[in-house]
Amino acid sequence: MGLHIEPLEGVGAEVLDVDLAGELSNAEFSAIRDAYAAHGVIFFRDQDITEEQHIAFARRWAPININRFFAAHPKHPEIAMVSKEREQRDNIGGGWHTDHSYDHIPAMGSILVARELPPEGGNTLFASMYAAYDALSEGFRDMLSTLKAVHSARHIFGEAPGTHYSQSDAGGGRIGNASAAEQLRDAVHPVVITHPLSGKKALYVNPAFTIRFDGWTAEESKPLLMQIYAHCMNPAFTHEFVWRPGSIAFWDNRATWHFARNDYHGHRREMHRITVEGEPLAGVAPAVA
Ligand code: SIN
Repeated sequence: MGLHIEPLEGVGAEVLDVDLAGELSNAEFSAIRDAYAAHGVIFFRDQDITEEQHIAFARRWAPININRFFAAHPKHPEIAMVSKEREQRDNIGGGWHTDHSYDHIPAMGSILVARELPPEGGNTLFASMYAAYDALSEGFRDMLSTLKAVHSARHIFGEAPGTHYSQSDAGGGRIGNASAAEQLRDAVHPVVITHPLSGKKALYVNPAFTIRFDGWTAEESKPLLMQIYAHCMNPAFTHEFVWRPGSIAFWDNRATWHFARNDYHGHRREMHRITVEGEPLAGVAPAVA
């Protein structure tokens, strides 16, 4: 097996000497899975895969989650289109978030394939929620381990005036189905989770979808949430991925956040995203003295 893993500064690892267009051996797949669990996001370069190969690779991990809100690929409903046209102003995912935390069983992660890139810009930032957790004091970790948080999609994808996408030109075409967001029952997750694949502890709140701590008001929750977010954005836990033709990123929603930069106005960017299902999340019991 020629494949090897090169850890990156901040978060993530590059998987080298592998061809995702070919049939992966069990040994290769298992090495990729170990890297994914350990690093939270993995990157591939110089890949030339068709939509069918993208779908086949995703299915090897878990069933595909067909996105409720994103426009689907015209021929392959499994692929969500993450695109921005030359004349559009707003991008999709242009703020720190982790996908699907508003679901009761959040999706495992997404495999994003670059299909058309601007000449410059359009990078994606990733942040490690393992590293953010590890850098906290034991006392603060223990306090956070007693908390749960409420996550919602309504203020982002919903119908009410003022929701994130209703104010953006990403609505009507790129993002839609606001009524589905209204029907979702808010999800409650532990603030510190034991990651289902790695067994490591990770912070599980995010600026886009977490609306408050369970049992607290939004106003009461805000100062502590802001403190946690400021900590998680520490550059020591982040990596800025520079896309090139043939690049693929596969992130884990339970171990990382991501942020798509919107700094390429006047140019087109088209990415194909497939999201795969996850498993129920378990919290961490606080340490007993
Ligand atoms: C996303 O949040 O899924 C979009 C990421 C990107 O376009 O880089």
